[in-house]
Amino acid sequence: MQQVMIIGAAGLLGQYMCEKAVARGLDVTATFNRTRPEQREIPLVHLDITDPVTVDNVITRADPDVVFLPSALTKVDYCEKHPREAWAINAEGTFNVAAACKSAGAKLFYVSTDYVFNGEKGGKYYEFDTPDPINVYAQTKLEGERLTLDADRNNVIARVSVLYGWNRISNNTNFVTWVVNELRQGKEIKLFDDQHVTPTYAPDAADAILSIVERNGAGLYHVAGPNCLTRYEMGEHIADTFGLNASLCHNAKAEDIQLPAKRGKITCLDTNRMQAEFNITMTSFIDGLADMKATE
Ligand SMILES: NC(=O)c1ccc[n+]([C@@H]2O[C@H](COP(=O)([O-])OP(=O)(O)OC[C@H]3O[C@@H](n4cnc5c(N)ncnc54)[C@H](OP(=O)(O)O)[C@@H]3O)[C@@H](O)[C@H]2O)c1
Repeated sequence: MQQVMIIGAAGLLGQYMCEKAVARGLDVTATFNRTRPEQREIPLVHLDITDPVTVDNVITRADPDVVFLPSALTKVDYCEKHPREAWAINAEGTFNVAAACKSAGAKLFYVSTDYVFNGEKGGKYYEFDTPDPINVYAQTKLEGERLTLDADRNNVIARVSVLYGWNRISNNTNFVTWVVNELRQGKEIKLFDDQHVTPTYAPDAADAILSIVERNGAGLYHVAGPNCLTRYEMGEHIADTFGLNASLCHNAKAEDIQLPAKRGKITCLDTNRMQAEFNITMTSFIDGLADMKATE
């Protein structure tokens, strides 16, 4: 792999993928949709993945060995309220990219989510566990997975879970930066203590994804941090690391806060496959937070 295309250079994961791919000496072309990153070291092309003709043109012209697709409509509640848009971007958009990759002879690397599981298993999920999406976002992402592997069995999928890290390109927050902002302003926040996830440090996920492709991975991998935590526990760790007032974090139950989209109780991901095949280990939540504090 030498030539790579990263679709979505302005997204949280996409920006770290660009940075890490350049650091590995890869020849990177990146795309943006509405937000244009100010990076100058790599060529940037505008691309809306819902436009099949442009998708085909852009991929054919760049002729990459691998196309990474971290782009998606990622706001879970927004997807629930706008299902057509969610299907158009997350499923049909993935189909457009998968079809263009197939005709250009490029491998597709699709990024998916722990939310493909219903959260009722009672423990961490393995790659071979059966998905059962319980919201629109997860249904569209699971369809994206199917389209990716239907196009070519050598394509790759990485399921990540609750990505966090500094966003250097846009003002979009993620769970950690949102909690830091709220606590710094002295605001009280309610955090679920009945939903467990495996927070995944975005720079780490970017590195793992590149390593999986470099080592010829194919099929489905879980790429997530090692800790299975509730949002409330995460809030306490965040307050502790950043020297903020943890008593502003209040625990809440899913039924206390009516959100448009349902979430599973425990959607933590087991990452043994990635560790066993490629010896990749992921940063703990506490170490990820410490790295954020050191690099703010
Ligand atoms: N964030 C999480 O906690 C989480 C958890 C599990 C899985 N994931 C998955 O991980 C991946 C990366 O997530 P993220 O948090 O890094 O995403 P993000 O920051 O929300 O970025 C999503 C990117 O997708 C782009 N995009 C949206 N519509 C597009 C379109 N029609 N054509 C081309 N690009 C489009 C956006 O560009 P514009 O904003 O410019 O339109 C943005 O750059 C996603 O596939 C997501 O489903 C994320």
